[in-house]
Amino acid sequence: MTQTAQFDAWSAGQNYEHFMGRWSRQMAAKFVAWLVPPRRASWLEVGCGTGALTATVLAGCNPKSILATDPSKDFIAYAHAQANDKRVRFEVADGQQLPASNADFDVVASALVLNFIPDKARALSEMKRVLRPKGLLSFYVWDYPGGGMGFIDAFWKAAAAIDPGARALDEGTRFPFCTRPGLAQLCADAGLPAPVIDALEIETAFPDFESFWRPFTLGAGPAPGYCAKLPEEERNRLKAKLAEIVGGDGPINLVGRAWAVKTTLP
Ligand SMILES: C[S@@+](CC[C@H](N)C(=O)[O-])C[C@H]1O[C@@H](n2cnc3c(N)ncnc32)[C@H](O)[C@@H]1O
Repeated sequence: MTQTAQFDAWSAGQNYEHFMGRWSRQMAAKFVAWLVPPRRASWLEVGCGTGALTATVLAGCNPKSILATDPSKDFIAYAHAQANDKRVRFEVADGQQLPASNADFDVVASALVLNFIPDKARALSEMKRVLRPKGLLSFYVWDYPGGGMGFIDAFWKAAAAIDPGARALDEGTRFPFCTRPGLAQLCADAGLPAPVIDALEIETAFPDFESFWRPFTLGAGPAPGYCAKLPEEERNRLKAKLAEIVGGDGPINLVGRAWAVKTTLP
C-alpha cells in the first residue's frame, strides 16, 4: 500500500453512503442517461462499492445480468444486502484481475474507481478482455485536478493550510490524469478506440455547515480516512478552517463534476 493510499479506507458501507454514495447515486443516473447502453445486455461492473451504479443500471437499463465486483468485502456485503434482484451477482474481486472469461460481456462500467486502481493500464486491459466484439467500455472519475469535486477540494485546501503534508493526499495531486487529455491518453496507451469524453455535473447541496462537516468524520474514503486519524485538537482546527473556506452558516452548494468516458470495441 502506498503512503497516500493508507487513508483510502474502503469499508463501512453506511458511512460511505453518507459521505459519497448519496452523490455517486446522482452521478450514476447522469452517467447512464449519457451512456445510452443497449437493453438486455450483460454487464460487468468494476469497483461497485455500495452499489450506486449497480442499482441505477438495474432500475433503468433493463440489463440481462450484472456481475458487480469490488475488492472491499464490507462494500460487497452492503451492496448485496441492498439489492434484491436475481439479475445481479456480487463478487469480491480486484479490477486488475477480473473474475471472468474472455469476451463474456456486452457492457463494462466503472464508477469513480479507476484512479484508485494501482495499475490503470492493466485494469483497462482487463475491461477490454472481458468484452465481446462491439462491446461498450465505460467509466467515470471525479474531476479532481480541476477542483470539480467541490467538497473534497475544499477539504484538502483546508487540510493543507494546517498540515502541508496533507497536500500529497489531495486527490487532485494524487490523480493528475483525471482530465480530458489525461484520460484520452490513458485509453490510447491501453490500445482502446478513441473514446467519447464528456463532463457530467451534479450539485452537492448541504443545508448547513454541520451537515457538510459530519460525513468527513465518519472515516469512509480518503478525506474521512485522514480526518478520522487526526488528534481532536487538529481536527477542530481543520473544521474551523473549512468553515472559513466554504462559509460557516447557511446552505453550502458546490459542484460535483465527473469525466465520463465511453468507447465501443471493434
Ligand atoms: C469512490 S468508491 C466508488 C464506489 C462506487 N462505484 C460508487 O460509485 O459509489 C471507490 C471504489 O473503488 C474500489 N477499489 C479500490 N481499489 C480497487 C481495485 N484495485 N479494483 C477495483 N476496485 C477498487 C473501492 O473498494 C471502492 O469501492
